[in-house]
Amino acid sequence: MPATIIIGTQWGDEGKGRVVDYFAAKMDVIARYNGGDNAGHTVVAEGHKLALHLVPSGILYPEKTCLIGAGTIVNPLTLLEEIKTLREIGVEVGPKQLKIAAGAHLILPTHRSLDGASETRRGEQAIGTTKRGIGPTYADKARRVGLRAGQMRNRQEFAKAVRNLTEIHNERLINLYGLEPLLVGPIVDQFTEAAGLLAPHLVDGAALVAETLAKGKRLLCEGAQGTLLDIGYGTYPYVTSSSPIAGGALTGLGFGPKEVESVIGIAKAYTTRVGAGPFPTELNDKIGEQLRQVGQEYGVTTGRPRRCGWLDAVILRYVAQVNGLTELALTKIDVLSGIEPLKVAVAYELDGERIETFPAEWGAEAVANCQPIYEELPGWEEDLSEIRSREDLPENAQAYISRIEELVGVPVKFIGVGPERESMILP
Ligand code: GDP
Ligand code: IMO
Ligand code: MG
Repeated sequence: MPATIIIGTQWGDEGKGRVVDYFAAKMDVIARYNGGDNAGHTVVAEGHKLALHLVPSGILYPEKTCLIGAGTIVNPLTLLEEIKTLREIGVEVGPKQLKIAAGAHLILPTHRSLDGASETRRGEQAIGTTKRGIGPTYADKARRVGLRAGQMRNRQEFAKAVRNLTEIHNERLINLYGLEPLLVGPIVDQFTEAAGLLAPHLVDGAALVAETLAKGKRLLCEGAQGTLLDIGYGTYPYVTSSSPIAGGALTGLGFGPKEVESVIGIAKAYTTRVGAGPFPTELNDKIGEQLRQVGQEYGVTTGRPRRCGWLDAVILRYVAQVNGLTELALTKIDVLSGIEPLKVAVAYELDGERIETFPAEWGAEAVANCQPIYEELPGWEEDLSEIRSREDLPENAQAYISRIEELVGVPVKFIGVGPERESMILP
């Protein structure tokens, strides 16, 4: 069982990138399975601070294979920018290090325009998307009209397909939204040029995964976003358009569940969310502002300030269940130093009743009506960033972690005490 899945347990930005970078050392293939360049994964290691959007967070290891899986969606233009930025700081990103699954769908500039137009049309109900064209591209995939990365192999045919889909989108921009169409010629030119540059990276993604697993090599599946942004199990409609949950790794990379050895949930020691939608433990006060400043909670992709709040054990219990979590990695516990007391939501009150389960399937409105029931825990003052063993943490920090394990029923195996690769407490 050589596959490990890394998922986000909240609304994204839990620190998946840094944990993937850490685990990548022991892996052979690191594969992103969902989402597109809406993601922003930070890796701080080897003197670099990388902000990765689509390139898997194992890219700092030149001898490893990174795969952009078929469940992802690829904007060829921003991917080329990302590759260029990495090369400029000396990171090797050749066809040997970076593979793109032929089945991944492609994001066109018109998908981005449609994303923006749809958000404007929603007005007060806007999702607060990253405007990277994610929803329209996955919609085209589901409507069976999308473009796939494998089409980049035949540049002439590809040019025709890009032109065709762009024209269809332009009609929607004009007729549905009353907007100006985008110029088709330059898009076709840019995309055919990009196709030439990206074609050497194309592979049959599922075949690569199968070969890796058959040889007993180790596969690390990197999720983007978080469980509460899942299209099916998140706070719909305030979600993304893919499956960040563990099941998404199987559909996004094309392999079976019997290969999965562990599912590691990445949880921030508090909670954040970017964009609109319900957030029961949100803090619109001085403590929320302290978390944002100390935790540097600003979006990697859009720069938006992240909404901040207390840790929510109701969410983590639900997330453990829908992902089959085997362990937790708790990040950013260092950010909680100096907050007294700490609070953790242990249940909710909904319509006058106490509930212990997260009502995601009942939709965003049900979640919005939940009032958190808190338990208070004593805080600590110490700086945790140099601590490397759980026993050396202040007693109250140890108690905070143990209480999370009790409330969620999953062991905390890894504890982040700073953003750097080494700033982690291991089992
Ligand atoms: P991702 O999208 O899940 O990969 O997370 P992001 O990179 O968007 O956001 C996580 C932020 O927290 C990044 O700036 C990381 O460098 C930082 N980070 C990750 N783990 C820790 C930690 O344990 N402590 C601190 N202080 N920062 C961390
Ligand atoms: P990582 O991988 C946090 C949010 C957006 C918006 C919603 C839908 O870095 O954790 P979309 O552009 O996907 O249609 O937007 O999802 N969102 C994220 N929030 N981290 C992310 O990725 C996100 N990717 C999308 O803010 O609320
Ligand atoms: Mg992020």
